[in-house]
Amino acid sequence: MKHTGLKNNNKNPVQKEYARLSQEYDDKWSFYIKATLQKTLKKIELNSGDRLLDIGCGTGALLEAIEKRYPDAILAGVDPTREMLDIAGKRLSNKVHIEQGWAEKLPFEDETFDIVVCCSMFHYIREPMVALNEIMRVLKPAGRLVITDWCGDYMICKIYDLFLRVFNKAHFKTYGKRACHKLLFLSECYDIKVERYKINWFWGMMTATARKKVFYLEKMGDAVEISGK
Ligand SMILES: C[S@@+](CC[C@H](N)C(=O)[O-])C[C@H]1O[C@@H](n2cnc3c(N)ncnc32)[C@H](O)[C@@H]1O
Repeated sequence: MKHTGLKNNNKNPVQKEYARLSQEYDDKWSFYIKATLQKTLKKIELNSGDRLLDIGCGTGALLEAIEKRYPDAILAGVDPTREMLDIAGKRLSNKVHIEQGWAEKLPFEDETFDIVVCCSMFHYIREPMVALNEIMRVLKPAGRLVITDWCGDYMICKIYDLFLRVFNKAHFKTYGKRACHKLLFLSECYDIKVERYKINWFWGMMTATARKKVFYLEKMGDAVEISGK
């Protein structure tokens, strides 16, 4: 495992929070992880040799399930919290490439991945457009994005979001379906779909899927969108 990108000096509230939670994370959140992982997996389809990036991969539960289902895919995970990555490193095969880093500054080359996934991570992002621009940069043209996160359209999640904004420094913001759709639209995505659902009486979730637009240069030199709708 390579640890690159921003330093893990645990000064950032997100890193502090997940350094503290890392040892108990999988057990304490097992129901939630299983439910969100299943919903996210349904939106992922990989061919042999396809490249997938899991941003905010945490302890690697989703990557482990993807590795089992698609042993011929090329998998990578990124997360800022070293303690979470240490657990992921133990559970995943050494074919899975894991890096320390942030969604807002991804440590990967342009147009590397066929699909990017984020599960239960988006509500921590301070600058969502910066992160989405980074995601679009590392996605190949027409590459897919799958985001699963809390959905602020459900009253109980809205209240929890407000509570966390006041009492939890790591938390930033929970989005509703329209806001999520708008962010993806502004990031030059097409084929945007946002599905809302509940996994129990408390957690209201959404899974968004979208594709990165493809552009080609016309003879005159103008960039023309060919796949956006
Ligand atoms: C709730 S855990 C989710 C872990 C895993 N995706 C899952 O579904 O079990 C959130 C993870 O997102 C990571 N994270 C928070 N902010 C991030 C950011 N800006 N960029 C990348 N990862 C981030 C945290 O370090 C943490 O490991």
